[in-house]
Amino acid sequence: KKYKVAVIVGSLRKESYNLKTAKVLMEIAPESLSTELLDIAGIPMYNQDLEENTPKEWVELRENVKKYDALLFLTPEYNRSVPAVLKNALDVGSRPPGKSCWNAKPAAIVSVSTGSISGFGANHHLRQSLTFLNVPTMAQPEAYIGGVADLFDDQGNLTNNSTKEFLKTFMLAFEKWVITHLE
Ligand code: FNR
Repeated sequence: KKYKVAVIVGSLRKESYNLKTAKVLMEIAPESLSTELLDIAGIPMYNQDLEENTPKEWVELRENVKKYDALLFLTPEYNRSVPAVLKNALDVGSRPPGKSCWNAKPAAIVSVSTGSISGFGANHHLRQSLTFLNVPTMAQPEAYIGGVADLFDDQGNLTNNSTKEFLKTFMLAFEKWVITHLE
């Protein structure tokens, strides 16, 4: 059986290390996980007044996410927390009450940072929201990718072998996590 995994990247920039890491994870994903990038750019900021005349981007996000079995988040850390674009996507998808598109989808988080604290703050703030959203998020192995600028070459290839091996282990554990929750 194949499981559809939405890969959600919390950085919008073209040369994003989170995006580069996402592409590596998609390449090395085990057979049973079929991964796709889910675009969260351009989603209007959450405003409850707009629920009466829902922006089309909100409808698309809510419907799109429902097509996936599982979620793989890659997040940078902005000021020790999650970038607003990612938090906004979570907020938009969580409404209306009782109809959250995120509900019960197994997930995993990889935080990626140029710094040495490796996005710990963002990783755990994201876990806090996902816990409330009833998204079972893999606890182990944790994935904190720090000092990321040294791990890729100029062409965007991951050149650090121990990181590559770790990411393979991580994806195998995530596959197990998904199967356990969805079987
Ligand atoms: C950052 N950065 C950052 N890094 C970190 O480790 N902890 C932090 O709190 C912050 N805060 C922060 C705020 C803002 C507004 C920006 C733009 C950046 C640095 C950040 O980790 C770095 O820019 C990453 O390369 C961003 O990820 P992408 O875009 O490469 O995926």
